[in-house]
Amino acid sequence: MILAIANQKGGVGKTTTAINLAAALALRGKRTLLVDLDPQANTTLSFLDMARVTRSMYDAITDDACGIADVVIDSPIKKLRIAPARIGLAKLEAKLAGEIDAPFRLKERLDTIVGDYDHIVIDCPPTLGLLTVNALVAATHLLIPIQSSYFALEGTDDLLETIEKVRTRANPGLRLLGVVITMHDRRTSLARDIRAQILDVFGDKVFRTVINKSVRLEESPAYKESIFTFAPDSSGAGEYYRLCEEVMQRV
Ligand SMILES: Nc1ncnc2c1ncn2[C@@H]1O[C@H](COP(=O)(O)OP(=O)(O)OP(=O)(O)O)[C@@H](O)[C@H]1O
Ligand SMILES: [Mg+2]
Repeated sequence: MILAIANQKGGVGKTTTAINLAAALALRGKRTLLVDLDPQANTTLSFLDMARVTRSMYDAITDDACGIADVVIDSPIKKLRIAPARIGLAKLEAKLAGEIDAPFRLKERLDTIVGDYDHIVIDCPPTLGLLTVNALVAATHLLIPIQSSYFALEGTDDLLETIEKVRTRANPGLRLLGVVITMHDRRTSLARDIRAQILDVFGDKVFRTVINKSVRLEESPAYKESIFTFAPDSSGAGEYYRLCEEVMQRV
């Protein structure tokens, strides 16, 4: 499985989902690569010190002499490796402007290492630009985190349209694996209404597991840990564990 985690809305839980899902897969013994495609580098910083990052996905995508294997770094979790991002990734769009193969760069690069891993998880930036398109072209599956908030579904049309374009032009096999509701607060009736709206639009694509608001999930990246080592008994750990189970069942 090459799983892109995407939603062009900012702050909806893409990175939190990417790091904890990748950690859950690795802790189950799966050789997992976590690719950070966001210039903000939040995924990278959730496990690594920037001082350890000399080359990043920017080099892997733009430099023919640099492969993904050359940028990958071990994480604190056995079986989990990270292909890091750096702020320089923000220049990718300008750098690849006019290159005919621009949307296919990541796919080409991943093709050479795909056999080294059981699963690859890609954290996307909050845009529908070239980086996200590269992820969608390379992915076998897509997971969309949707924040349980008043404007939850705003923008999903654009996302679905982009997915359709990628399917018709470049990656017919791309499957929507599911939609996960994040930062839910089950005590409020607004949150329950929003969940009902999301279910209306996405039906059985919505994962049964809902990720509730949790201070532990917010804190763990500051300690460079996934939720499973930082707070193994927390509700967030249980929820991401169950989400991983559902993901495995659907693949
Ligand atoms: N279940 C949760 N409970 C509480 N806080 C959360 C939860 N999930 C994510 N957060 C926090 O919300 C903020 C946004 O989450 P995250 O970085 O995962 O979103 P994102 O979609 O990757 O954002 P961006 O679009 O900027 O990349 C972060 O501070 C994160 O720690
Ligand atoms: Mg993020």
